[in-house]
Amino acid sequence: MTSLVERFKNLVYHAATEAKHESESEAHQIFRDTAGHKSRGLLPQTINPDEETVPGIEHPGSTGVIYCSDRAIANGFSYTNAHEWANLGQGAPEVGDIPGAGPRPTNIQFPVDANEYAPTTGVRELREAVAKLYNHEHRQGKASQYTYENVCIVPGGRAGLSRVAAVIGSVYTSYQIPDYTAYDQMLGAFKKLVPVPTALEAENKYRLDIGQLAKDIHKQGLQVVLASNPRNPTGQVVRGKELKELVDLSRDTSTTLILDEFYSWYIFPEHESEFGNTVSSAEYIEDVNTASFVVLLGLNWRLPGWRICWVVGPKNLISALSQSGSFLDGGASHPLQLAAIPLLEPNYVATERIALQRHFKAKRDHVLSRLAKLGLPVAVPPEATFYIWLDLEGLPAPLNNGLTFFEELLKEKCIAVPGIFFDINPAHRRNLFSSPCHHFIRISCGPPLDNLDMGLDAIARVLERVDKEGLSGFGHGYETSAT
Ligand SMILES: Cc1ncc(COP(=O)(O)O)c(C=O)c1O
Repeated sequence: MTSLVERFKNLVYHAATEAKHESESEAHQIFRDTAGHKSRGLLPQTINPDEETVPGIEHPGSTGVIYCSDRAIANGFSYTNAHEWANLGQGAPEVGDIPGAGPRPTNIQFPVDANEYAPTTGVRELREAVAKLYNHEHRQGKASQYTYENVCIVPGGRAGLSRVAAVIGSVYTSYQIPDYTAYDQMLGAFKKLVPVPTALEAENKYRLDIGQLAKDIHKQGLQVVLASNPRNPTGQVVRGKELKELVDLSRDTSTTLILDEFYSWYIFPEHESEFGNTVSSAEYIEDVNTASFVVLLGLNWRLPGWRICWVVGPKNLISALSQSGSFLDGGASHPLQLAAIPLLEPNYVATERIALQRHFKAKRDHVLSRLAKLGLPVAVPPEATFYIWLDLEGLPAPLNNGLTFFEELLKEKCIAVPGIFFDINPAHRRNLFSSPCHHFIRISCGPPLDNLDMGLDAIARVLERVDKEGLSGFGHGYETSAT
């Protein structure tokens, strides 16, 4: 395999004009011109007619998913021609049949009473089923057991996170870069909490550094820590001894840990005997009602459209979430909560998880192997989630930044998510070229295999164009028409 450095060594992209600042890059200017993405740095602000004409209304900035879909639409994507596009940006798993898993639900029946509102904390039987599953999987033999009072059903992961964020007081709330894009708006929307960033380091494989976190807790007075584990977008996971240390740190320092375990099913074992394993901090806490611990999980049965997720934590937190839910979202769909109850039966869960891990591990391995053949080996391959955090720095400029690579992929009918969206609060500060996520793009293995191959073919075509035409055709000529 020829390395990309070798392959493109004779190509120079107008060295004298190579962009160093976002103002010199067309892809970055399109981003800045989108409502809500103007820099809030030191430069003087001008009125942006797209976002400042409705009195009192401020655009929060579109999440990565919305920005990427809008840019795809500007490049010809539509919901009727979606099958012609490869969606490596997809933030959800494929929802069709997979080998070894049960049939996909296609209809539900429910009693007439379920047409009523459900309680804001959720239907009691479902809460009980979640508690039972957690006790079965993570708390066997432990004195302190979960009950329904430790579970709050929420209408989706983001609604759960917003309910939690709404009840965080005026305290330093730590988050890391990179992490899940929606934390950006979530941490900004609730003005009481004070967000404090820490950038994860490449040499530490973009993993949460517990030693560093301990220092930050002591020195900065952090009181709440938010992290996805497994981590979107890097696919790294804190587990075992390390996860226990994190739980102990939270207990010893009275720091509340909000662990978003949305991808806790999507872990990829190296050994056959480990298929079906999951990971949760719920395993390491002592007392379910005193541990300052919040765990979020969705209906990982590849049913994201159901909008059924839950938060597990101390009783006292659950009652606070009932209150925030009553003004934020009003609760999850009553009929779908009832339909979810049988899906939590431990034996059913175990079978589904094995099928899911086999299927997604095969897709991950396939994509990693094709990327390596294209000269894009992944330095830190994901151990979990269905995302690949691809470093493009080895490519020649301007393809070596995620936003420009993304624009070039759009020309080939492929969507991915530029790394800067995982730099929480990216649009509001500093030159985007200085972001620790500038050189990255996130590739999703969520879609079915044939769609992943279409995306990999698109990446191959971009690289072939470099071979054939050099670099002068890259970095400009992007569609700007927003629809
Ligand atoms: C880390 C993480 N948490 C939570 C969610 C929430 O998802 P939803 O609101 O779609 O249930 C996602 C979705 O991509 C995620 O990546």
